[in-house]
Amino acid sequence: MLQGKRILLIIGGGIAAYKSLELIREIRRAGGSATPVLTAGGRQFVTPLSAGALAETKAYTDLFDLTDEAEMGHIQLSRAADLLVVCPATADLLAKMAAGLADDLATTLLLATDKPVLAAPAMNVRMWGHAATVANVATLRSRGVTVLEPDVGPMACGEYGPGRLPEVARMVEAIAAQFAEQTLQGRHILVTAGPTHEPIDPVRYIANRSSGKQGYAIAAALRRLGARVTLVSGPVDLPTPPGVTRVDVETAKQMAAAVEAALPADAAVMVAAVADWSVETAGAKIKKGAGGPPTLELRENPDILATLSRHPRRPKLVVGFAAETNDVIEHAKAKLAKKGCDLIVANDVSGDVMGGDRNLVHLVSASGVETLPEAPKDEVARQLAQHVAGLLNG
Ligand code: C5P
Repeated sequence: MLQGKRILLIIGGGIAAYKSLELIREIRRAGGSATPVLTAGGRQFVTPLSAGALAETKAYTDLFDLTDEAEMGHIQLSRAADLLVVCPATADLLAKMAAGLADDLATTLLLATDKPVLAAPAMNVRMWGHAATVANVATLRSRGVTVLEPDVGPMACGEYGPGRLPEVARMVEAIAAQFAEQTLQGRHILVTAGPTHEPIDPVRYIANRSSGKQGYAIAAALRRLGARVTLVSGPVDLPTPPGVTRVDVETAKQMAAAVEAALPADAAVMVAAVADWSVETAGAKIKKGAGGPPTLELRENPDILATLSRHPRRPKLVVGFAAETNDVIEHAKAKLAKKGCDLIVANDVSGDVMGGDRNLVHLVSASGVETLPEAPKDEVARQLAQHVAGLLNG
């Protein structure tokens, strides 16, 4: 997500500063690098040693540190980066940025830079709501600074409300979004993901091994390209990707209704492993009886993908998935015709793809077969999202 990207990370003085250390790790895990700059306040909460050790680079602190100037001047430091991130952005730092003050290294870098700036605020709820902060944030946004909305929740000071530092995952997404071309801006894309649960009785159900990981990664990747994403999800144990609207369902019937309710959409990517059958559900728990095991009465579930492909309000682009264990491409070609969709993403699930972290997929459409390199599900999602953008934008 951040391959080769250089982030200059300004660490302000707030209790949330310790999370900037985790942000350094996550930036690096996503392939980027982080150069920490600590304000005097920031150094009260984390040390240059820990920030520098995690970043595996020098952590900068002082404007008038001659060694720094000999190695790299502050102007150069502020421009060698691809993006400046302020985390946590305290009320004081936001005020200084808005006023154009430059009385220490961090604020001087922020004033001297010609690169985009992203600020992740963290402060007491009243400081965030204060007219001065509200005006400062508006000023910064009008100048093109991305100021994230803080999270809402309990604060270190014991109060409750907006002002918490955004979750690290949300900050990483926002950083990645700075670099992604917003090729899906203004588009609404519907994604289904996860398994469905088909109840047998009030306590039992039939399900499958879908983890939802690939579908969630696709929703996140589409969002990163600027799309408005509605994710209709079966029961999974995954966090909602930042900025994605999630609708939780359990059964195939509920999923079909949620898909219908989410229309109109410009594109639909149906990743869910929808159960083919539902069970004639018993109203009460089925007892283990003398009559031996019960017989389950199965009924065909609605085919959500096929229905959507022939829907009067059909999205311009409909993408289906095909999980196969043999003759993957042949089955995918047959499915393309049968379902009436524009593209089938065929994956070989004979290995440990389901629940695993990597995937190998073939894109099968009327124009041929394209095989993507075997890669982590996030990377497969990124490439698929690019492909979707290409098809939508002609
Ligand atoms: O029919 P099959 O499960 O082989 O096809 C897989 C594709 O069809 C996936 O895109 C899946 O989301 C979709 N599907 C559906 N409704 C069903 C069964 C599958 O939308 N009842």
